Amino acid sequence: MIISGSNPVHVQQAVEALCAGELLGLPTETVYGLAADASNESAVAKIFQAKGRPPNHPLIVHVASANSVHQFASDIPDFAQKLMSQFWPGPLTLILPRREEMAAAAAGGQNSVGLRCPSHPLALEVLKACAAKGVWGLAAPSANLFGRVSPTSAAHVQSEFGDSLLILDGGECEVGIESSIVDCTRGVPVLLRPGQISRTQIEQACGLKLVNPETLNSEAPRASGTLESHYAPTAKVRLMSTTDWQKALAAFVPHVQNLALWSVQKPSFELLGAGLVWRAMPSNATQAAHDLFSVLRDFDSRGVRTIWIETPPPTPEWEGVRDRLNRAAA
Ligand code: TXA
Ligand code: MG
Repeated sequence: MIISGSNPVHVQQAVEALCAGELLGLPTETVYGLAADASNESAVAKIFQAKGRPPNHPLIVHVASANSVHQFASDIPDFAQKLMSQFWPGPLTLILPRREEMAAAAAGGQNSVGLRCPSHPLALEVLKACAAKGVWGLAAPSANLFGRVSPTSAAHVQSEFGDSLLILDGGECEVGIESSIVDCTRGVPVLLRPGQISRTQIEQACGLKLVNPETLNSEAPRASGTLESHYAPTAKVRLMSTTDWQKALAAFVPHVQNLALWSVQKPSFELLGAGLVWRAMPSNATQAAHDLFSVLRDFDSRGVRTIWIETPPPTPEWEGVRDRLNRAAA
């Protein structure tokens, strides 16, 4: 059931559900999360069950402010502190060493914990109200079935889990792709997942170069968002250069069927409507990230079989979008 985030009675209802060990579809500025009390093992088990996610894949724990980090983390390196001061509340998750007695189930049994303070006003309001009741963190993976496209609206969440899930409507997510994740447990910052906050911004804020996970030879932490095939719609996704899709389209005419195209360049007019669904890809990376998952969902809902996507530019601000597109196409 979708309840309105602008109605204080509904927000209260959402807080009470969480404190009672129930699940909630929670809006954040990145994507919607499937939230539960991070310290309540049976509540956390409901997340894994609802998502169909393997129980050893750790969840991000959301907190009301940097002050709550000590509830879950045993040690905060200097550079992690700098990242928190610079980017929280906001779309950045830090992996920190976990206090042994805290949130073991949410952390998938690892001795680290992923922490994030989101900037969505409604998420902060809920987190603060929960903290006031002694619930210091909300475990919340993206509110989609395992391996599927992340939801950026309350309606998307409902289409994943049905009407029995309580979903707090906070409107469309502003960022549209999941948080950047920096592992802070290895002495140097390691970028596990790119997001809206860019590599350069992270390096500038902490004064250290980011290390790529592939260059570390120890066993990498399990991160579903880093599996090669992830964020996948039902239709088959192909990344193509502008010239490639234009040539391919010209070759297929007039047999184009069940095909969708997301591109900056508009295809020739006479093809539209026939067997081709087209949506304009913004030429600005921030706007493209905002649109990405809802465009994929929209294509899926129209029953297309194939999705062609114009390869984004190889520039740093597109790293988050490129990452999600490569996984959707894998
Ligand atoms: O923007 C976001 O991060 C959204 C919103 C809801 O906050 N959440 C999200 O959660 O994307 P999820 O579970 O779909 O992705 C979280 C990623 C996973 O790849 C998970 O494995 C990784 O974070 N992660 C969480 N805790 C970790 C840990 N202790 N060590 C390594 N990776 C961890
Ligand atoms: Mg996810």
